[in-house]
Amino acid sequence: MNLKELVGIEVAKYVKDGMVVGLGTGSTAYYMVKEVGRRMKEEGIQVTGVVTSSATEQQAKELGIPLKAIDEVDYVDLTIDGADEISSDFQGIKGGGAALLFEKIVATYSKECIWIVDESKMVDKLGDFPLPVEVVPFGSHNLFRLFEEKGYNPKWRKTADDEILITDGGHYIIDLALEVIENPHALADELDRYVGVVEHGLFIDMISKVVVGTPEGPKEIAVPGK
Ligand code: 5RP
Repeated sequence: MNLKELVGIEVAKYVKDGMVVGLGTGSTAYYMVKEVGRRMKEEGIQVTGVVTSSATEQQAKELGIPLKAIDEVDYVDLTIDGADEISSDFQGIKGGGAALLFEKIVATYSKECIWIVDESKMVDKLGDFPLPVEVVPFGSHNLFRLFEEKGYNPKWRKTADDEILITDGGHYIIDLALEVIENPHALADELDRYVGVVEHGLFIDMISKVVVGTPEGPKEIAVPGK
């Protein structure tokens, strides 16, 4: 069993009967969704899923997990998602799977969020992983140029066919190769101010817990003060 599978299965224990559960996106969240489906079938728990991407929607439907759209619920009890990097103060970069916008929306309306990662994603400071910025296509080449001028080393997110990728929300993604993000709060505020930026992959103060996959087994870390 790989580390992603290990944490995906472990974290599903936090899903309780009757919950509205935010179902994250990516190769780690995949195993959590699979385990939730198994628990529904074999243990008889009933949950309602709120998905964060078309990919997760397809998986959840195949597993027979009943779904509601985010606007059909007032809040989500618990959202479990992967992450691309988590800093020592539990800020995160997400969006490697291009689902950051819907992931952040679902997380925002969740009472609690847990991230599941393998230990390679726990870092001191964020930034080694390119920071995804989701942008409206109109004017995006000018925004790209602005990022170049700022020295943010932008790169278009492309498909396997080398086309600009279009997100589930109908937007483009520009990845910023920043190497190190000294002040995630300040950068998040800055990115929020660019016209044409729909959302960015800095997830600030969003989680209460991380479940980390290590060769010794899953390790749970509670975020202090949450
Ligand atoms: C998708 C995400 C994913 O959660 C993140 O990229 C981690 O993915 P994986 O578990 O496949 O490494 O943010 O937008």
